[in-house]
Amino acid sequence: MDAIFSYILLLVLLSLSLSLIFLSHTYKRNYGSPKLPPGKAGWPIVGESVVFALSGPEKFISDRMNKYSPQVFQTSLLGEKMAVFCGASGNKFLFSNETKLLTSWWPQSMKKALLFPSFVENSLKEVTALKRGFLHEILKPEALKHYIPIMDSMAAQHLDSEWAPHGEVKVFPMLKKYTFALACKLFMSIEDPEHVARLAEAFTLVTSGLFSVPIDFPGMAYNRAIKGGRMVREELLGIIRHRRKELSEKKETPFGDLLSRMLLVTDEDGKFMNEMEISNNIIGLLVASYDTTSTAVTFVLNYLAELPHVYSAVFKEQMEIAKSKGTEKLLNWEDIEKMKYSWNVAREALRLTPPAQGAFREAITDFTYAGFTIPKGWKTFWTVHSTHKNPQYFPNPEKFDPSRFEGSGPAPYTFVPFGGGARMCPGKEYARLEVLVFMHNVVKRFKLEKAVANEKIIYHSSPTPVNGVPVRLQPHEK
Ligand code: HEM
Ligand SMILES: *[C@@H]1O[C@H](CO)[C@@H](O)[C@H](O)[C@H]1NC(C)=O
Repeated sequence: MDAIFSYILLLVLLSLSLSLIFLSHTYKRNYGSPKLPPGKAGWPIVGESVVFALSGPEKFISDRMNKYSPQVFQTSLLGEKMAVFCGASGNKFLFSNETKLLTSWWPQSMKKALLFPSFVENSLKEVTALKRGFLHEILKPEALKHYIPIMDSMAAQHLDSEWAPHGEVKVFPMLKKYTFALACKLFMSIEDPEHVARLAEAFTLVTSGLFSVPIDFPGMAYNRAIKGGRMVREELLGIIRHRRKELSEKKETPFGDLLSRMLLVTDEDGKFMNEMEISNNIIGLLVASYDTTSTAVTFVLNYLAELPHVYSAVFKEQMEIAKSKGTEKLLNWEDIEKMKYSWNVAREALRLTPPAQGAFREAITDFTYAGFTIPKGWKTFWTVHSTHKNPQYFPNPEKFDPSRFEGSGPAPYTFVPFGGGARMCPGKEYARLEVLVFMHNVVKRFKLEKAVANEKIIYHSSPTPVNGVPVRLQPHEK
């Protein structure tokens, strides 16, 4: 207890002294300077992060859109001055001006935990962590096709061993386990359950500290994230070295996992990626996919358990596909393409409970939007929460209605679970396959019934159901 109090005291003192510096600074700056977006910065360092955490992102955003401006407002999150862009036109502006006005920016907590652990900080300075073109190349649909049967058999096995023996399961922890095991297999061919579990544990430390306030203090999420990041990296470097050696001895892995493709790819000068670059890429993919895909599948199943008429329609579609194949054959690309209604259901779940909240950038020059100036160096944030439940774009927004995605679907820049423009999520297709294959396997075996109604959802980096979405399983009669 004492430690907590002295910590709070330290924070307050720090805030007070800094707010004095801040105030004098703001006065100087505002005198005759351009019009900044409306809003307030909150406390120095912690800014409005605490309010953000307490009220949840959805309410935080809609409150401020109402109070300040539906187009753009300022706040301070994660220790940074930030302009939050809102609505379809705010999204459009950011997505289209990706390269001209903005550059990639990650919160300090993320950089430090993952990309710049202190022991490699210097050697990493000029490495761009995620090579975008390359990621789009190795994650494009054609490249993922032969992962479908592997996803299918892993999903079936997982349901056999972890679900079938029980009358009730908690969907969320199950999906965390499955998603991570699948990523270990498809990214690096790691299958040993103990090895997977060890990596998962370190990794959970990282992802739960990613969007924390960047204070490196024992016991804080940020501090644990840095430690977890170091463990994951050491582990990965070991795996990469081992695999490189195997490759040089021409021991091929049975199928092309992402790691072997990263080891074989060369740049224009014929240079291979070094071990640190590869580990950065793998870590980037694990971070970007772990919470997001497990959350996505969890909420799809949550809605299936809650809404019997939606379940029935998905069941019908999936059983037609299953019957057309006979019993022994694994799913393939043509089957996925037939899952049209199921994908609409998944998209409606992504609209109502988006796994990713949005993304940050940094302004590389002063620019204006909606009559307000965004100064160079400010961070920008686009967010799913300014459009996904906006009745202007989605009438009766709280209603689960997959038919919104029929025909031409939602207006451009309003349904943005994967972002848009040049920086749109390169893992979108991988996520689609993972979600649909898992839906197929679940409805084929079980009918679902929610065991806890109106479960509370809290926000970490993604929405987290506090009870883990317990469902009762009713196996279909044979
Ligand atoms: C339902 C699941 C997923 C959702 C909702 C999601 C959403 C997002 C969003 C919103 C962004 C930020 C876009 C921006 O910066 O404007 C992003 C970036 C990214 N995602 Fe995903 N994602 C998902 C799954 C995945 C998967 C499975 C992978 C990899 C296999 C992946 C890899 C990435 C990467 C590497 C980036 C960074 C791209 C860049 O910085 O250019 N994501 N994702
Ligand atoms: C991109 O930025 C420029 C310069 O600020 C602006 O004029 C243009 O409208 C923006 N593009 C979009 C699509 O909003």
